[in-house]
Amino acid sequence: MTAKAKVTGYATGWFVVAASDELPVGKVLSLRYLGRALVAFRGEDGQASVLDAHCPHLGADLGIGGTVVGNSIRCPFHAWRFHGDGSCAEIPYDRSERPAKSLARAKIRPWTVRERNGLVFVWHDQLGRAPTYEIPQIPEHGSPEWTPWTLNIMTIRTQPCEIIENVADRGHFPRVHNTNIDEFENEFIDHMAIQRSAGVAYPRGGGSDRFRLTATYYGPAYQVTEMESFLPNKLINAHTPIDEHSLHLRFGVMLKRVGDDTKMARYAQGYTHNLQVGFGEDVAIWENKVWRDRPTLSDGDGPIGALRRWYRQFYPAVEETTP
Ligand code: FES
Ligand SMILES: [Fe+2]
Repeated sequence: MTAKAKVTGYATGWFVVAASDELPVGKVLSLRYLGRALVAFRGEDGQASVLDAHCPHLGADLGIGGTVVGNSIRCPFHAWRFHGDGSCAEIPYDRSERPAKSLARAKIRPWTVRERNGLVFVWHDQLGRAPTYEIPQIPEHGSPEWTPWTLNIMTIRTQPCEIIENVADRGHFPRVHNTNIDEFENEFIDHMAIQRSAGVAYPRGGGSDRFRLTATYYGPAYQVTEMESFLPNKLINAHTPIDEHSLHLRFGVMLKRVGDDTKMARYAQGYTHNLQVGFGEDVAIWENKVWRDRPTLSDGDGPIGALRRWYRQFYPAVEETTP
């Protein structure tokens, strides 16, 4: 593979696997992400945990019929229990002379989890290294002056490079999104990719919205946008590969409160609807395009090469095998 080739495998970084409110205490979620079967659960202590899904005993999927017991998850097949760190808490019928040894052998791979801003993240690194950056807390999240997230999710038949490239792809906004861009710049700082832009959007339904925004990727898969428009708002855009051909895109908004819950819910629905329409416009392209390792670019394009160089840092295998 050369430095210019499309990256393969899954990036190193934090990936959203659930919204916090999808995982209340006592809940088990079966997940399929990053080419693996995973299980998420929340114990009585409030801690969210994510493990590989398949039991080390005879291979049942803990996410399908598993139950939370205290701070552990119980397998639906023979009721072995596992802590959130993947260690075995109990083999209910073990009569061996050294039960501790059986317990020590029965271990499931745990995933490093962070819960930030109402979202549950797992850390993925194909080389097994510890996290190298953190997801920053959004100060307004949880504030009574702001709404919680209104989130939506889409399954898209594409790979992450396409989603990421929107950051630098100035040229597609007028064509795909009916949006005039007056100002556009990108900055790449360590694990962050920032887009600052301003312009006028012309929604297909009519009217016009002047906007100014700063959209920041923190790592390869989680972006927060601060936008000045009709209401102060924060947008989220997070993708998580399901496998090498498809991904989940989570997107949504939190808004500064300017009215009662009903009114805010209506605004939030309006924003998420617009996001859905906007991403839908991209999806029609993404699901049918091919990847160009060596695209023919013109002067009016954004800094697509710089964006691709930034993104390759999250694929250590590529960096390390590239001369
Ligand atoms: S397969 Fe899980 S306890 Fe037997
Ligand atoms: Fe787009």
